[in-house]
Amino acid sequence: MSEWTKHDLLDLQDVSRDEIELILQTAKSFKEVSARDVKKVPALRGKTVVMLFFENSTRTRSSFELAAKRLSADTINIAAGSSSVSKGESVLDTARNIEAMNVDAIIVRHSAGGVPQMLSRHLKASIINAGDGCRSHPTQALLDMFTIKEKLGRIEGLKVAIVGDIRHSRVARSNIKGLTTMGAEVTVCGPATLVPREVVSLGAKINYDIYDVIKKSDVIMPLRIQMERQEQKFLPSLREYAIRFGIDKTKLKEAKKNVIIMHPGPTNRGLELSAEVADGEYSVILDQVTNGVAVRMAILYLLLGTKEKPTEDG
Ligand code: CP
Repeated sequence: MSEWTKHDLLDLQDVSRDEIELILQTAKSFKEVSARDVKKVPALRGKTVVMLFFENSTRTRSSFELAAKRLSADTINIAAGSSSVSKGESVLDTARNIEAMNVDAIIVRHSAGGVPQMLSRHLKASIINAGDGCRSHPTQALLDMFTIKEKLGRIEGLKVAIVGDIRHSRVARSNIKGLTTMGAEVTVCGPATLVPREVVSLGAKINYDIYDVIKKSDVIMPLRIQMERQEQKFLPSLREYAIRFGIDKTKLKEAKKNVIIMHPGPTNRGLELSAEVADGEYSVILDQVTNGVAVRMAILYLLLGTKEKPTEDG
């Protein structure tokens, strides 16, 4: 298994299979910490971690904060609405001012793709991408891979279906990259208007037949229709979408016996999946949330354990 040498976590494009294995292995040992009565280890004592979120979040922000606290780091939360960005300060100036307080890591979420990369070029603090536009959500894909391995014992050779609004999904892009790196076969399914051809170059297959996809898959991951990112109408109606692509008990009659149903959240019950399926025997949705803390502990631990940020010459 490789040593961890990266200073930032921006994307899974530049994370190797060995590095993913190292994160998943490290997360396994941290999962035990969260199950203890006293959920704390001193690994990052003296470090400061900042959550800088320009978009809403329930799971990612709180699990990063819990992860940092369980490693004994100090944390602060900055939400766009309460920051001086609302007075016209740029994202970079905001981040530079935060870094001037000698922080060690900035975890950033932004509606524009590329913001974490831009901050990484200008700042010495470790930058962790907590979701940038439709582009990338690497920590979600890592916790998804951790959950798949925990539930099914492996990732290599599994058939994973991602269903729904692929076009606007950073979760889909990061999962396609991560899962194919780990040897899974990823198929995307949804209305043609929400499945861009680009996914093929990322390593996924396209299959518009939801029943065929469900029948063949070990993992089914329905995604939310991201109305907030749609600048034009991609669907005739949400009702029609729910009937054709929504994962419900009837469609799951075709599924493998040990299939798992995942969802990154937030879920829209009755649309991309039924309430029965969300709460049903195949669902691992809350396990994903539990595992998110352990995976984010591993990421913080590996990143903040490295030394200087490399220069452009290496
Ligand atoms: N999966 C995910 O990113 O959820 P949040 O938007 O709640 O962070």
